[in-house]
Formats: sequence, structure tokens, C-alpha cells
Amino acid sequence: MKIKDNIETFNSLIKRRGFIWGPSPEIYGGLAGFYSMGPAGMAVKNNVLSIFRKELRSYGFEEVECPTIMPEVVWEASGHLERFIDPVLKCKRCSSVYRADKFLKDELPDLMIDGLSFAEMEALLEKNEIKCPDCETRFEKIEEYNLMLKTKVGVDNIAYLRPETATTTYLLFNRLDQVMRRRYPIKVFQYGKAYRNEISPRQGVLRMRSFDQFELQLFISKEQEFNFEEFEEVKENELPLLDWELQEQNIDKPNNRSLEDAIEKGMLKKPAYAYCLFLAHYLTKKLGYPDEVIRYRQHSPNERAHYADDAWDLEIYTEQYGWVEICGIHDRTDYDLKRHGAFSNQNFEVAMGSDPKEKEVPQILEVAFGVDRIIYTLLETNFTVEEERINLKLKNYLAPNVVAVFPLVKNKENIRNLALKIHNDLQDHLISSFYDESGSIGKRYRRQDELGTPYCITIDYDSLDDNAATIRDRDTMDQTRVKIPKIPEVIREKLLKSKL
Ligand code: GLY
Repeated sequence: MKIKDNIETFNSLIKRRGFIWGPSPEIYGGLAGFYSMGPAGMAVKNNVLSIFRKELRSYGFEEVECPTIMPEVVWEASGHLERFIDPVLKCKRCSSVYRADKFLKDELPDLMIDGLSFAEMEALLEKNEIKCPDCETRFEKIEEYNLMLKTKVGVDNIAYLRPETATTTYLLFNRLDQVMRRRYPIKVFQYGKAYRNEISPRQGVLRMRSFDQFELQLFISKEQEFNFEEFEEVKENELPLLDWELQEQNIDKPNNRSLEDAIEKGMLKKPAYAYCLFLAHYLTKKLGYPDEVIRYRQHSPNERAHYADDAWDLEIYTEQYGWVEICGIHDRTDYDLKRHGAFSNQNFEVAMGSDPKEKEVPQILEVAFGVDRIIYTLLETNFTVEEERINLKLKNYLAPNVVAVFPLVKNKENIRNLALKIHNDLQDHLISSFYDESGSIGKRYRRQDELGTPYCITIDYDSLDDNAATIRDRDTMDQTRVKIPKIPEVIREKLLKSKL
């Protein structure tokens, strides 16, 4: 049967092959906004993390990890208690609840909803006589809804699950200042869970209530933000920038601009912030996204989070959901450290320049990735249907298995033993190998193509005589015969080549 090249085939693949499952817990009917990673999804996630960790080390970043629950005072200080809110429409008659901006976007697709204030959205409700889809009652007011999940620690200490890793990183500031020996900018990142009580999450894994963040923070002086050495090395890079001015004219195509040009034109204010845009792009490109699915979209002043003076999203185009934010780059100024300094009675003023008497509270620039969104968009952009097969064209170093090893038949002991030996040998060489002896060879190839495995190795009757096996390439389906002792080296070379 011919395989249909459509989003239904893709959605079924990501469940069938163990990438993403949910809503979880599936056996109890599922709770919206919660998903689980299957073995294949988890393997891709781990590969993404290891690339990010390796790359960031070479850019001078260190890693930290903090608790995911923090006492109430932290969120008072960070401003999340007061201002981490979504606009909500609640039907007075049937109690249905909708996120106002998303709802208006669906109802009024020709209007620009991003960036509207509560009052402006209410005016649209009135003008267009918008009603509750469930019971036809007119919506009137937009209410505020805090996105944080509340809990209790011990008997009665109020605490919240963190809505971002960033704030928990900032709480380490005086420790970091000391351990990094006051060398600015201090560059750190944190990977881990964050939680948001989304009102009515309808976009699958894109709007999860429990999700993974990978957030980079630069603690930097005011002077360095404008006079940033590392910017000089990257300033000629061109990025697809869709600034707020273009969006106001209803334009959704970005302009390719060098960072230098964007600074000159005033589209970006600070070279260090422009460098953060570069860094986000660099890491994203390492994952193999093609240029045409990447754009940067600037937030309107109303859309920006309460801590941000400027914010751009790095977005990936998807067939299922349109443009999807996978990373937000925020200029958080000295907002966070000033607030935490004041609420905790700590002095966060440090000498950041050559004069030890001149002290200031550091500025913070942030690059915040949503890891689950990376996994989803990577799977969607690499999904292809060719003739009679699905081929998931993940980069070699991102695929759940680098190699799959098959004995041609499983009931010939010496063929099976040789296949197992090759499989173990590859594992010993730190090459992730999957052993499979069930089903026809054709079916085994298809299964691995669907998982994105770049190379399959088959051991056949001839292998017993010529001590060689066949390596089959996922994309070209070409098969080459390689001497068995050489296999780990040949695979390693292929991997190295694909990284260039
Ligand atoms: N830390 C920024 C964010 O959660 O989007």
C-alpha cells in the first residue's frame, strides 16, 4: 500500500516508533498538556543535549542545576506572582475557558492580535460580538490568570513549581561571581524541567504544562553590552529578522540582515544581545534545520515578558502548527538581580571593569530553548515519505541509533553470533548500536529508516567466508561491503564527515 505523505502519517509515526506519547497518563485517559518521551524521543533529546553541552563549553559556558520548587518569596521577587499571567475568557453561563489572544486569533484571522493590550482585546470582543462557541453567550471581560503551579512544602510553606529555569540560576549569582573569579561576562546554562499551568493547552507537545528548558544566561556589565569583543567575530553573520515594525505592516517574511547592519539600523540595540541571537542560531543550525524554516520574530512591547526590555523568538516553520518558537532571546537588563538583591537583602553590586571602586548590578542576557519543541520540530522537518518508505532524515549524530545490526537469518548460530559480536564491538567503540533479528530484512530496514538510523549492517552467509558485512546507507540505500574488523572505524569516519 502506498504511504501517504501527510501529517497524519507523521503523527502516527511519532507514536508508533516511540518518540512522543500522550497526553499522559494514556491508560487513564490523559491529562492535557502532559506528554512522555518514548525511548526514541529520549535518545534524540539526549543527543541534542550532548551537542549543546559540547558546543557551549567551547563558547565558555558552565552548567548548573537547581531545585524545581522554590518558596513564594522567590516568585514575588522575580515578578512572576504578579505578572506571569495570560488573558483569559471565561464564559459566565457554561464556564468554558479560553486563552483570549489565541481565541481571538482563531476568530479574527485577518487581524493582528499579537501585541494587543487587554483593553484592546476587549474592544474587539465587543465590536465583533464574539460569543462562547459552547453556549452562544457573549464574552465581556478578559480576566488575568497566573500560570504558576502552587504547592506546599512541609505542612504549610507555600511554594511554586518553577515556571522557568532562569530565575533559579539567578539565585546563584553571588556564588557564581565568586567561583568564576569575577570574570565577566559570566556564562552559565541550566537544563531542566519547568512547569506552567496553561489554560487549555490544545497544541500537543508545543504547549506542555511540564516541559524541558535549556536556558543560557550571560551576566554582563553595561559597558560590555555595547562594547563586546566576541561580537566582532560574528557580526557579519546574516540572520532572518522579522522586526516588530514589519509585523505591524502585516508582513511575515523576514529580511536577511547581518548583525552589524541590524545594529546600525537600530533594529538591535546592543552588540552583546546581537551576539546572543547569533549563538541561538549557531546552536540551532548544528541540529541541521534548513535555512528556510528558520526566522527570528521580535516581540511587540505588549507581548514581552515582564522582565524583558527586548525579546526575539527563534521560530521554526512546521506544517502542523505554522511558526513555532523554539527559543526566546531576552534582554532582561538588571531587573532580576536588582529585585532579588532587594528582596533577599543582598548586595549584588560588583566591580565589573578595571576600577574596583566602580560597582554595578550586572545586566542579564538570556537565550532560552524549549527542548521538547526542538524535538518535535526536528522530527517534523526531517520526516519524508519516499516511494514506499518513510525516511526520517535526522542528522547522523542526532538519530536514536547510529547503527542497526542484523543477522540475515536468526536460526544459523554462527551468523547470529557474528552479528552479536559486531553489535557489541560497536558499543565498545561508543557507537550506539541496535541489534535486531526479527522479521524480514526488508521490514527491519523500514523500521530503522523510520527511526532515522543512518546505517544498517547485515551479516549474511558470505560473511562467514569473507569476514565482511554489508553497510547500507539510509538515504541512498547504497550497500557497501566492509571487512568486519574495519566496521567501527568506517562508521566513525562517516560520523565525523557528517559533522563537518
Ligand atoms: N526564561 C525565559 C522563558 O522561560 O521563556
